[in-house]
Amino acid sequence: MKSITKICCIGAGYVGGPTMSVIAKQCPEIQVTVVDINKDRIDQWNTNDLDTLPIYEPGLKEIVAERRGKNLFFSTEVDKAIDEAQMIFISVNTPTKTYGKGKGQAADLKFIELCARNIAKVAKDDKIVVEKSTLPVRTAQAIQNILDNTGNSVNFEILSNPEFLAEGTAIEDLIHADRVLIGGNDTPSGQAAKDALSAVYEHWLPKERILQTNVWSSELSKLVANAFLAQRVSSINTISALCEKTDANIQEISRAIGFDSRIGPKFLNASVGFGGSCFQKDILNLVYIARSYGLNEVADYWEQVIIANDYQKSRFAENIISSLYNTISGKKIIIYGWAFKKDTNDTRESAAIAVADALLEERAEIIVYDPKVSEERIYADLDYLNTRSPEENRRLLKVTNTPIEVTKEAHAIAILTEWDEFKTYDWKTIYEQMLKPAFVFDGRRLLDSATMETIGFNYYKIGQS
Ligand code: UDX
Ligand code: UDX
Repeated sequence: MKSITKICCIGAGYVGGPTMSVIAKQCPEIQVTVVDINKDRIDQWNTNDLDTLPIYEPGLKEIVAERRGKNLFFSTEVDKAIDEAQMIFISVNTPTKTYGKGKGQAADLKFIELCARNIAKVAKDDKIVVEKSTLPVRTAQAIQNILDNTGNSVNFEILSNPEFLAEGTAIEDLIHADRVLIGGNDTPSGQAAKDALSAVYEHWLPKERILQTNVWSSELSKLVANAFLAQRVSSINTISALCEKTDANIQEISRAIGFDSRIGPKFLNASVGFGGSCFQKDILNLVYIARSYGLNEVADYWEQVIIANDYQKSRFAENIISSLYNTISGKKIIIYGWAFKKDTNDTRESAAIAVADALLEERAEIIVYDPKVSEERIYADLDYLNTRSPEENRRLLKVTNTPIEVTKEAHAIAILTEWDEFKTYDWKTIYEQMLKPAFVFDGRRLLDSATMETIGFNYYKIGQS
């Protein structure tokens, strides 16, 4: 196999954008073209003002500034990019199905299939097709079937190359990846394709961190990695509920168990609940697959991770309601943070959405502040739930960019994302202008209990009585 000189990526989202930017940076001799059917998104990637790129990731805009127009291109000309490339990444979204068989659990593969059909139609020479989207096991096989049966008799090799980057640290995670996983066929042409993709990553990663497996192991490993990570968060969160009823402190427990080198210290932060595009979706997929093979005990086991997460979110909201004397109708509650974690503008499955929805059900007046999330996004997230009309959502919930000023005469503040700037606020001033008793519900364990209590707050910190 000749070495790769032209790569195309279909899907300019949270995964495709940063991943391709890093490949372009680390492989200056490879031309990388990111295409998307969404023209607005491509226009945003091509904007002169790098602060308005469609995705916020620390370090991303610097790379785009350095490589764009040289060997990194963003375009809507999908067919042209497919035609020119030797290697095509598919990085389109695979939302959970909202209709038909597998509704609410299985991944919707319609975009993947559209991509495969499009590649089959356009390709005039052999291509390596790389699935980057997280997919149910055996999707590579489906893509292969479509390509082989509808293509122009050219050879397609399908690889699975799951993404392990976390949002907010995507660039760092890509440049210093713990490992890269490449799944492919055990045939000579399959091996050549795996080696060609390895060679791309070997520009900056040591060979021993690039693992080659068969396709199904690679696909399933991605689901399992996310399921294990999410399970850790749900595990610590269930213990946080127990801590709140006793004198135990969740932070001390995390520290105590994290020192056990078999357990390790990471991913043991109690929170208002995990969010993000992957954890819930991937576990639902795992559950769906297990059930479809009749493995009900396996399915139930993993499903419990999601049930525990939903419990954590509703528990947090219920605690706000009961602390405010079981009535929050007309009370002003400020939400700090809407993103599913800090340093990203992504809000998919964010705990804030569920908490806000529960408070709105009780007719609270909510004001949201998030340093990176737009007003349109916040309303879109709420409207999507269909709990109440869009007009009602806009009447009861407002979005602000003056986080301190809006705390005037507020009853409570709920911290739902761990943005660093919340730590730097003048909490004394905030306290003085709030109604008394002034409540702070810290769903991220961001602030210091002693300081907050000395100021005078009724301060609730998740995982602490
Ligand atoms: C997506 C999946 O959600 C995730 O499971 C997977 O691991 C990687 O891809 P993400 O990049 O975060 O994650 O999705 P998103 O930000 O929605 O970007 C997908 C892009 O694909 C969108 O810009 C969309 O317009 C584009 N797209 C979708 C196409 O270009 N063509 C299509 O047919 C469908
Ligand atoms: C995750 C995986 O980490 C990544 O490897 C995969 O490619 C995509 O899914 P991401 O969703 O971007 O990445 O963020 P992650 O840092 O894993 O956090 C997920 C959620 O768990 C966030 O809501 C975060 O706040 C929460 N979390 C994480 C906790 O509540 N406690 C923790 O200790 C860690």
